[in-house]
Amino acid sequence: MTSGGGPAEGRVIVALDVDTLALAESLVERLTGAVFAFKVGLELFTACGADAVRAVTRQGGRVMLDLKLHDIPETVARATARAADLGVAFMTLHTGGGRRMMEAAAQAARTAGGATRTLGVTVLTSMEDADLAEVGVPAGAAATVELRARLAIASGLDGVVASPREAAAIRALSPTNFLIVTPGVRPAGAAADDQRRVATPRAARDAGANYLVVGRPITHAADPRAAALAIAGELA
Ligand code: C5P
Repeated sequence: MTSGGGPAEGRVIVALDVDTLALAESLVERLTGAVFAFKVGLELFTACGADAVRAVTRQGGRVMLDLKLHDIPETVARATARAADLGVAFMTLHTGGGRRMMEAAAQAARTAGGATRTLGVTVLTSMEDADLAEVGVPAGAAATVELRARLAIASGLDGVVASPREAAAIRALSPTNFLIVTPGVRPAGAAADDQRRVATPRAARDAGANYLVVGRPITHAADPRAAALAIAGELA
């Protein structure tokens, strides 16, 4: 069992990809105890702001605040400190912001008490080699993911967000307590939606993922709680 997760909570982080507090609160209510944490991303945060985070924590849920921060070190450090003030469990930033930005964020999280763990996005899974070359990153996705994961480790981040496909390579180069969080997870037989490089929950775990971000297979299910527990069961 992963640290902090109850018997049924396991490793699933459910993506609250909705646009109102009422929808977010209703999902949290249905899923409390069935998932490890709730991901508040750009849509919900833009629509509802920090109240979205408070809505989850008020109901006792952990939050992964997925804003993929990418700015100058001071700005990212200060935003990380504010996320820590809100009590989020995980905060994402973009490794493309460089070593000093990541070091500043990691330091800010530690200074705030260490309860907020910093996760670096290596390369967006929507980008292929040609897309990277077009923005001046000719090394390709696989090599860039490894290089940035090493830099995230050296900069003191607590983990990375990566596709299940990249998880094994990152696990091989990272310390044992380094966290790998993978989206793009689909139970066998579930619709892939717009995800391209999907893996089953078990495959993601076996590749070295500590936590799995799952959205629509849970939130669009007729019974979200049953869907979450089925995934947890597959991982148990
Ligand atoms: O519904 P689905 O399971 O595809 O949702 C996955 C969630 O993970 C979404 O919130 C998506 O934005 C996020 N995500 C992703 N791939 C990444 C990073 C985040 O799918 N590389």
